[in-house]
Amino acid sequence: MKTTLIVNPKGGCGKSTIATNLASYYARAGAPVALVDYDPQKSSLAWLEQRGASGNPIHGIDGGAKRISLPGATERVVMDSPARIEAGQMERLFKFSDSVLLPVLPSPVDIRAAAQFLGELMLSGLLKSARVGLIANRVRENTLIYVNLERFLRRVKLPLVAHLREAQNYNRAAISGRGIFDMPPHLVNKDLAQWKPLIRWVEKG
Ligand SMILES: Nc1ncnc2c1ncn2[C@@H]1O[C@H](COP(=O)(O)OP(=O)(O)O)[C@@H](O)[C@H]1O
Ligand SMILES: [Mg+2]
Repeated sequence: MKTTLIVNPKGGCGKSTIATNLASYYARAGAPVALVDYDPQKSSLAWLEQRGASGNPIHGIDGGAKRISLPGATERVVMDSPARIEAGQMERLFKFSDSVLLPVLPSPVDIRAAAQFLGELMLSGLLKSARVGLIANRVRENTLIYVNLERFLRRVKLPLVAHLREAQNYNRAAISGRGIFDMPPHLVNKDLAQWKPLIRWVEKG
């Protein structure tokens, strides 16, 4: 079993988008997958509700429940997290994860917030024991801000596992509880290509 946590205390950076799309990738690939939603807003579970019985199954779990039990056959676990996590909970989620993905928007405010968060992880010792990769999300290429993000990543010595462009495809898919992996490939070619290194990195963990 492989577990991936998507985390970043900044709201709107793409945690739920990446969690649901990763889950939809596994579902497409035929791997029994559970999507655990720790966010009280429950965006990932709402997405799953829209999906209904249409796509390959994804087992949804409310991370806020007292007891969490995964179906016996589960091979992949994707955990979506809220903006606010209490330190003990963060530690538990990190310990449970084979890989941690940190989506960052290439804006100065978001880069600063991510740097601060990584600093906190370093101080708490969590960064040392975890396998953390960053994702530049909603990237419009050739912008100065993107250059800043790359510079920041080199400084923190964490891998940039993917950059995902700003694309309406994510919203189009999400309306019906789908991910880009459930869409006709010719409509999402560019996005599928950008997910390849991300999936490769997660699967190596
Ligand atoms: N790569 C992307 N391209 C276009 N829209 C995106 C992308 N990633 C996220 N979004 C949109 O940004 C908004 C916030 O994303 P979301 O995944 O809910 O963030 P979080 O879970 O971190 O709060 C959503 O409306 C989502 O559809
Ligand atoms: Mg979310």
